[in-house]
Amino acid sequence: METVAESRAGKGFLVRKARREDLPAVIVINRVALPENYPEWFFEDHLNRWGEAFLVAEVEGRIVGYVMSRVEYGASNFDLRRLVRKGHIVSIAVLPGFRRRGIGTALLKEALRNLRERYGCEEVYLEVRVSNEPAIRLYEKLGFRKVKKIPMYYLDGEDAYVMAREL
Ligand code: ACO
Ligand code: ZN
Repeated sequence: METVAESRAGKGFLVRKARREDLPAVIVINRVALPENYPEWFFEDHLNRWGEAFLVAEVEGRIVGYVMSRVEYGASNFDLRRLVRKGHIVSIAVLPGFRRRGIGTALLKEALRNLRERYGCEEVYLEVRVSNEPAIRLYEKLGFRKVKKIPMYYLDGEDAYVMAREL
């Protein structure tokens, strides 16, 4: 019988929890893929506190993608009067040469599962540049909907969509 790990390896990549020693590679991918970069302690802090939802994708032993999340308690994105535990997808990226083969989808699906099962989150949200069509499509495919727009969210003045879904 095929195990989950083997069936993922069959696709040419493996998704697993991030480890401390993966962080240098994660930081490089973040810098290559996104203008939103963070100091090393920020990655460490997320790994220490919400490590079940900090995942990496590996191809032949090389880290080619990551998703970093956290857990917050606050107003629901679907009903502002309700307080909920919600997952926040802080950052996700896949190295350019490894895109469009399902790695982003696999990372995000596993993060959503762990946010629900390990952390008891009832919903999940993220911010994304309004021009970031690939990412918006990925999120919509996984059931996220645009819930609001935040003007001038990014340092260069671009607006963000907040996208959210129930878990
Ligand atoms: N154009 C159009 N649709 C796309 C594209 C694209 N370039 N890339 C992905 N999609 C959509 C498609 O619907 C795709 O399904 P399909 O290939 O069957 O058509 C679906 O998303 C899933 O694609 P995956 O292969 O699972 O995603 P991938 O591994 O390529 O990773 C990601 C997607 C993470 C957005 C990647 O493009 C990336 O690293 N981009 C740069 C970093 C970035 O923008 N990160 C998100 C910022 S917002 C945040 O971090 C909260
Ligand atoms: Zn955010």
